[in-house]
Amino acid sequence: MRTVLVTGGAGFVGSGFVALALSSRPDWRVVVLDALTYAGNLENLEGLDARFADRYRFVRGDVADGAAVGRLFAEEAPSAVVHFAAESHVDRSLLGPLDFVRTNVLGTATLLEAARGAWAPGGGRFLQVSTDEVYGALGETGRFTEETPLAPSSPYSASKAAADQLVLAYHRTFGLDTVVTRCCNNYGPRQFPEKLIPFLIARFVDGQTLPVYGKGENVRDWIHVDDHSRGVLLALEGGRAGQVYNLGARCERRNLDLVRGLARELASAAGGDPDRALSRVVFVKDRPGHDWRYALDPSKAERELGFRPEVPFDAGLRATVRWYLDHEPWWRRVQTGEYREFVRRTYEDAGAGGAPPAAAPRGRVGV
Ligand code: NAD
Ligand code: DAU
Repeated sequence: MRTVLVTGGAGFVGSGFVALALSSRPDWRVVVLDALTYAGNLENLEGLDARFADRYRFVRGDVADGAAVGRLFAEEAPSAVVHFAAESHVDRSLLGPLDFVRTNVLGTATLLEAARGAWAPGGGRFLQVSTDEVYGALGETGRFTEETPLAPSSPYSASKAAADQLVLAYHRTFGLDTVVTRCCNNYGPRQFPEKLIPFLIARFVDGQTLPVYGKGENVRDWIHVDDHSRGVLLALEGGRAGQVYNLGARCERRNLDLVRGLARELASAAGGDPDRALSRVVFVKDRPGHDWRYALDPSKAERELGFRPEVPFDAGLRATVRWYLDHEPWWRRVQTGEYREFVRRTYEDAGAGGAPPAAAPRGRVGV
């Protein structure tokens, strides 16, 4: 039995990866370490303890807490770390950059130190889950390759870039077996409704406008969250130490086109009038430092890992819209803060310790 430590497993991408790992790797024990910040939702992991009782453990804890991380390494002796935990929302990083530096930079360094202390050469692999945003912005043409110099624009992407550099430096300096994956914009079920697609779906259901930053001309490169998880698994098992792998699905969309398509999809799924849905699209003040265009070249992952995204964008978006319409109670509980009740009952009332519950920071960011 191999033990894999997954940080940030209660979040959007991490929770899908945990389910994939447990169901597809019967000889893995998966230990989730998650601080349950505003973005961590135990409902995302519901049912796993019943289905995989002896192979699954959830631990509430902060990746930047060296003592807690050290204890967990001593207890569980993981032979791999898959590091998803992060402050992940760009707009929030404009309101409070230091949370991003603490979790994304110090948290990653803390995990690396624990791994360096615990693992003899060949004793384990550290996989850093990163983002295309570390490369900065593209103009109208070209794609990011793994050789593109890092030029992050936001505190979020700068903190991820710093973390990536640490992960690669630990390989070069200490010989730690590390791999970095860099993925583009994910969409799919259970995404926190501050991110573009679920944010707009919730607003649509509530009869509100659909805000597009600036002129909506920025381009994002989209991938279904399940394809991201599959890519991370491939890189963990087949990636070369010290390497970076871009995970993308070659699926660029201009924001305005995406939002219009989403509005039409919502109108048709909810039985509304598509023209009325389109009239709800409004242009709002642009995000400061808003990267113009992202586009990943995933050739290296395709060639070396056999990475092949499976979910076509239109079908994936349709299924995502359906999921949010069918799971309104899930995102309503997020909007009202009720999803944190479970955390409070499980941890605070029981006096189980761990980091204090994080309130969603103030400001105009989604919910
Ligand atoms: P998310 O915000 O949905 O989840 C983040 C998770 O990390 C939450 O469960 C949260 O409780 C946990 N966490 C935050 N701070 C922590 C701390 N100090 N200690 C322990 N746990 C902590 O994020 P996501 O969208 O699932 O992204 C996961 C990872 O994937 C991030 O590293 C992100 O940079 C990367 N990524 C995301 C996307 C995307 O489009 N969502 C794309 C590329 C890369
Ligand atoms: O590229 C990968 C990154 O994708 C991940 O590393 C991040 O964790 C993830 O949050 C995401 O970052 P973005 O900033 O691209 O995602 P967001 O959903 O916030 O915005 C997508 C695009 O839509 C972006 O160009 C800003 C725009 N936008 C966003 C919101 C919330 C709008 O036009 N209107 C909105 O209301």
